[in-house]
Amino acid sequence: MPNIRDVARRAGVAPITVSRVVNRSGYVTSTLRERVEAAITELGYVPNTLARSLRSRRTHTLALLVTDITNPFFTTIARGVEDAASAAGFMLVLCNTDEQATKEQAYLQMLLRKRIDGVLLVPAGDAQSLHMIQQQGIPVVVLDRRIEGSQVDVVRCNSEGGAYELGRLLISYGHRRVAVLAGPQGVSTAEDRVRGFQRAMAESGIEDQAQIYYGDFTQKSGSTMTQQALSAHPQPTAFFAANNFLAIGALNALHTAGFRVPEDIALVGFDDLPPALLPFPFLTVAYQPAYEMGRRAVQLLLDRIEKPSGNACQEIVLDCELIVRRSSGDPLAR
Ligand code: RIB
Repeated sequence: MPNIRDVARRAGVAPITVSRVVNRSGYVTSTLRERVEAAITELGYVPNTLARSLRSRRTHTLALLVTDITNPFFTTIARGVEDAASAAGFMLVLCNTDEQATKEQAYLQMLLRKRIDGVLLVPAGDAQSLHMIQQQGIPVVVLDRRIEGSQVDVVRCNSEGGAYELGRLLISYGHRRVAVLAGPQGVSTAEDRVRGFQRAMAESGIEDQAQIYYGDFTQKSGSTMTQQALSAHPQPTAFFAANNFLAIGALNALHTAGFRVPEDIALVGFDDLPPALLPFPFLTVAYQPAYEMGRRAVQLLLDRIEKPSGNACQEIVLDCELIVRRSSGDPLAR
């Protein structure tokens, strides 16, 4: 971890100047202050005095970092987290990282300079942010996704299994040419859902007929990939959208192109949309118990805060629930 001398060197100032900026003591010109603060951010420096207080004193505050605060899946996780945290006497700081590793690291540097007691992280990138937290000795639980090769508590859903069930459903309805609208390569939920769907196709000997498209977890990406898939020949007879926003984007693009769902093309997706927002739920989905995921993650984190060197890292994997509705079509109608 960088120290005060590294920051001073990077900023081109004396260590005492860094100390004055960190402790907000003594006079420092605004130019020098900006140079020091830029160096602190670039290096991810956390003043030792504060790091020690982080470990010794509690503020009963947890932080939850999610990758898309507009997604009801993550706000439902946040609801489960906040209910469990407040029941245990903790407050919650909620941060949105927009799937950007740089934004995630900036939030974490701010949080580590405060006296946060624990972090719940839906990772936007690789293990760098996680290592930053662990090097400061702050308890952390990773939510929703995996970080390959990391040693950390994880609470997530079985994306591979949920996608496998959706694939078997479409195959049971007679579909062979399926377009898979996946999230970003390198994100574990995106990769796991492609792998589960391909396992179902391979079991039926038709894995070569699935067209895989990688985008990001947004409606725009869902529409764009759907338009690409519709230009393929022969056209797919069904779509698997790897999350709720991709499914909405696909629905919009199919409608714009004049296709009816499910009469012309079947559609299945991941994540349900809150029933309160949709009086007539339509989409066949693999439902992730997001509220329970948040609640279980807080339980694990509070255990870690109480017993930092307790049990070995745990991976809690919750099952997805297959909810069959109209969008996947009626096999009898085919
Ligand atoms: O809609 C959110 C879900 O899709 C989460 O599992 C997230 O990781 C994305 O994959």
